[in-house]
Amino acid sequence: MLLEKILQSQGFGSRKYCQQLIKNGSVLIDHQVCDNPKQNINTDQLVFQVFGEEYQYREHVYLVLNKPQGYECSHQATHHKSVFSLFPEILIHRGIQCVGRLDQDTTGLLLLTDDGQFLQALTHPRKHVPKVYHVTTADPVSSEQIQALQQGVELRNEKGIYAATDVKLFSEYQLSMTIHQGVYHQVKRMLAAVGNRVEALHRHQVGRLELPDLQAGQWCYLSAEQKLLSQNMAIEDK
Ligand code: URA
Repeated sequence: MLLEKILQSQGFGSRKYCQQLIKNGSVLIDHQVCDNPKQNINTDQLVFQVFGEEYQYREHVYLVLNKPQGYECSHQATHHKSVFSLFPEILIHRGIQCVGRLDQDTTGLLLLTDDGQFLQALTHPRKHVPKVYHVTTADPVSSEQIQALQQGVELRNEKGIYAATDVKLFSEYQLSMTIHQGVYHQVKRMLAAVGNRVEALHRHQVGRLELPDLQAGQWCYLSAEQKLLSQNMAIEDK
């Protein structure tokens, strides 16, 4: 791939700006300045430097964020900060999108990608990728409420029944539950439907991928194995 195209694809800016970066001698490959924008470079395992910082060529990016409270999952956040403000400019230029949405007050595992197919596969209603939430409730959780969550509840303006699996009580006010769809405010509405209220909500798992060890607001690239896990596949399913 042409060097100027490589830089553009990795989010460094317009083709013209990337040409300038290269001609200025700001781009190094194998520790050698590469000042020809039209040079053809093999992108396989490619590592390069721009302004002294090292980058790995990635056809697509797959990211996991430990979402903090008070951040919206939209580019044009209106009432809170945007989760995209937690990422460097080059990832924003690549057009990363949230894989599904979390409410501004929900914390935990949020995936982001610039791969439209991956995003579609994980958010398509027919795929039913399971998601595990840790819920803190306003009122003590009763066994009737657990039963009702497992049997399924109706949600206003939504078709069908919404049931949780693997409902586990951690304490009087804390439970873990798995949902298999992703309609608007689903967990909050399910808890309301059984006569309780969500005080705090944290997503712990998507597919088979658990939230890695990240501080709130920190993110990392998904490894190939973590990407498979998020798609609810195991390594041997590859
Ligand atoms: N369910 C909710 O109610 N809110 C979220 O952010 C995610 C799931």
